[in-house]
Amino acid sequence: MTISPELSVLLHENRQFDPPADLAANANAQPEIYERAAADRLGFWSEQAEFLTWDRHWDEVLEWEAPHSKWFVGGTLNASVNCVDRHVDAGNGGRVAFHWVGEPEGDTRATTYAQLKDQVCQAANALTDLGVKKGDRVAIYMPMIPETVVAMLACARLGAPHMVVFAGYSSEALSTRIIDCGAQVVITADGSWRKGVINELKPAVDVAMDSCPDVRHVLVVKRTGQEVDWRTGRDVWWHDTVEKASTDHTPEMFDSEHPLYIMYTSGTTGTPKGVLHTTGGYLTHVSSTSRLIFDMKPETDVFWTAADIGWVTGHSYIVYGPLANGVTSVMYEGAPDAGGKDRWWKIIEHYGVTILYTAPTTIRTFMKWGEEYPKMHDLSSLRIIGSVGEPINPEAWIWYHSNIGGNTAAVVDTWWQTENGGILITPLPGITATKPGAAMKPFPGISAEVFGNDGKPVGRGEGGFLVVTEPWPGMLRTVWGDDERYQRTYWSKFPGVYLSGDGAKKDDDGDFWVLGRLDDVMNISGHRISTTEVEHAIVSDLKVAEAAVVGASDPITGTAIVAFVTIKASVDTEGEAGVRLVAELRDTVAERIGKLARPRQILLTPELPKTRSGKIMRRLLRDVAEHRELGDVTTLADSTVVDMIAELMADAPAEAEDTTNGSAASGVADSTTAEEAGGHA
Ligand code: PRX
Repeated sequence: MTISPELSVLLHENRQFDPPADLAANANAQPEIYERAAADRLGFWSEQAEFLTWDRHWDEVLEWEAPHSKWFVGGTLNASVNCVDRHVDAGNGGRVAFHWVGEPEGDTRATTYAQLKDQVCQAANALTDLGVKKGDRVAIYMPMIPETVVAMLACARLGAPHMVVFAGYSSEALSTRIIDCGAQVVITADGSWRKGVINELKPAVDVAMDSCPDVRHVLVVKRTGQEVDWRTGRDVWWHDTVEKASTDHTPEMFDSEHPLYIMYTSGTTGTPKGVLHTTGGYLTHVSSTSRLIFDMKPETDVFWTAADIGWVTGHSYIVYGPLANGVTSVMYEGAPDAGGKDRWWKIIEHYGVTILYTAPTTIRTFMKWGEEYPKMHDLSSLRIIGSVGEPINPEAWIWYHSNIGGNTAAVVDTWWQTENGGILITPLPGITATKPGAAMKPFPGISAEVFGNDGKPVGRGEGGFLVVTEPWPGMLRTVWGDDERYQRTYWSKFPGVYLSGDGAKKDDDGDFWVLGRLDDVMNISGHRISTTEVEHAIVSDLKVAEAAVVGASDPITGTAIVAFVTIKASVDTEGEAGVRLVAELRDTVAERIGKLARPRQILLTPELPKTRSGKIMRRLLRDVAEHRELGDVTTLADSTVVDMIAELMADAPAEAEDTTNGSAASGVADSTTAEEAGGHA
């Protein structure tokens, strides 16, 4: 198998960092936890589930008929009660749930648990008035504002699975997802602030509605205040409905396996998959990982996942995990350099953030900006700093540890995926001696392995497929509307074993190093985008004959999209016409998917390198995109084609005539590539 070139870089850093002594002494997770979970995996998960408030206790921890699992069978609970009501009932209603920081300086709002409960009840009542019932899907296309959390929890309270679409996705991406899951109500806002500019959301929803005739209502939060088009009867304002509704709402209790949410994510084929998560197992997984990996202490901690709620990281570690633990969080609306490149550090100092969770692409952006910005602020409150979304290169790890963590905070590099629900491989901050670049060990109760092609564990130091051999509570239950695809995608290569799509190796100590995707999924600033998805968008332009997309390594975004496109013979591609065409194609991708998928570079080429059977050799195109010596060309039908493309590439204007892909690290933040882009979207 091929292993990503990052491997060689990863292995150059050999230092280990012991867990900070004071953290170790008081950590929620103590060393015996690994033994406990290994001795009785289901007993361990059952103990974790006891931290939640159940209306009816479960009869059985797990029912497993591979590849379908049911967790905490027979148990009933309500996710919103677990995230909100029970903290109020326990006398902690006065504790701040969210310190929300809007992008414009000084635009802040603190919401206590008691206030959050009232707002969730109001939204649940308003949604009921709009006809939302248990089982109905509700689409959410919103900025990073407190109402987004309220909307999600109100859906959870009603047993109406939410389907959040990242607000940087295009209207077409939104409508495809709405249609696929059959949502009839959409919650959005007029816009959001991004680098001082309004990112308009309501107009994008209006366009999406043209192809979603089944949507009955669009509920709109007024955030930015500009004029918006209005469809009377369909559109309703949040402030006219939710804010006027009663704060009394009696929650219904749902089966542990009742659907909680659907989140779409890219796979190797063109259409994104609707990953389905259910209630009891998911909540157990995200609340226990929050408590044990981020060592959450609700009385003293201030937690900040600097990601967008539109990604799974936001669902699990802005909303459900922290709230289930009753901790105080920070939530930030805008770009990391809005108001200055020290904006994040100012926020951390101001609120005394103790735990920060972000993505390598953002860390690399901060590295590029320079250490003078974090130095402007006192960051000594930070005791745990986390990373997620892509492999973290040791250099970024060390920079993060020393410049943000003051050489004392514990770094947790956490590996997981949308499908996993919560973190699967990670250090535990009071136990694990960490190695920069390694995700270290499966979380207690998680059975991760590295398999060879034969379905057996590979030897130490050898690369292989990262798999999970036993079910876990937060696992996806199916692909919405396509269980066959669920079985085929994740469970068919090694029957009964979950295939992650990532490559990994275990080192001599048995610690895990995640090496990146083995399939056609690219990881752009921590976002998953499939090569086919981008190819489909490009060939939707009638001037295009054929397109091949590859992910090329990029110092900031990890991977960048490079497209090789052949244009129909009748179309003029000379000089200015060619330049215009490239710009047009990049815009087409932005329109069809979102700006985050806009290729860094598009090379127009008369032909693509193919095998004799007509298969495009992407491997060679990746070599070309990365300016590497070409690999084996013997299977090509015509080996001169790839030489010609390599020459064209060498003559092409410096990479990224426009690198503004607008992407955000797991929704975290604009990476440098997006600095000029004016935002997420
Ligand atoms: O390739 C892995 C990478 O991100 C992919 C999952 O992306 P997504 O479903 O969007 O979820 C991202 C946030 C949970 C994985 O297949 N990935 C995620 N975390 C890491 C990682 N790669 C290496 N190290 C990580 N810590």
